[in-house]
Amino acid sequence: MSENRLRIAITKGRLLDKSMDLFDSMGLDTALVRDPGRRLILPIENYPMDAVLSKAPDVITYVEQGVCDLGIVGKDTLLEKGGSFYEVLDLGYGRCRFALAVREGTDFYGTYKTRRVASKYPNVAKQFFAAKGMDVDVIKIEGSVELAPILGLTDAIVDIVETGATLRANGLVPIETVAEISARLIVNTASMKLYKAQILDFIGLCEDELRRQEQ
Ligand code: PRP
Repeated sequence: MSENRLRIAITKGRLLDKSMDLFDSMGLDTALVRDPGRRLILPIENYPMDAVLSKAPDVITYVEQGVCDLGIVGKDTLLEKGGSFYEVLDLGYGRCRFALAVREGTDFYGTYKTRRVASKYPNVAKQFFAAKGMDVDVIKIEGSVELAPILGLTDAIVDIVETGATLRANGLVPIETVAEISARLIVNTASMKLYKAQILDFIGLCEDELRRQEQ
């Protein structure tokens, strides 16, 4: 909070566009956020809120540390990074899933060997197999994870699947859903107490609009 204005950290990229669509339909003036130039903190001119544009893991850091009161970030990053904050609302957009995928024709579960799995989200992958009681080597890959099984580095991947086109184009098939993903609204725990009225007002605006869109 600064000068009675809430600060909301918003993930740049696709989630930012969809967040601004939501804000528009809630009657918030998103003109400056939509056209930020090189500015990173932009006021919503008709509502006491400033938007802080940042990368997904940083949204969590800023909210956790209390320099932002609220944040909008994908469940994928929340699952991978974790942290201490309130997750108050599923915003419904940015829908996709984490899936376990293998090369077509591979029997992933039908072997006693220790399997190797590549992921940009190693914590998500490790937790998934730990919950199954499976001993799996998880290898962190920074991008284009689909390459790992194709090159023979791993038996499978855990990655984000939206349309499935990337998997299909690379001869991979999803065999299990690891977790459902969508954009979430998170709140700093101290801000929730200190600025309860303002934060509940904003959450209420979001909920009303999401309910209206469902009808
Ligand atoms: C994600 C994911 C896949 C792709 C899946 O990457 O890692 O590569 O999207 O989408 P699809 O099922 O619709 O084909 P993203 O586009 O987010 O880019 P990144 O690799 O830089 O994370």
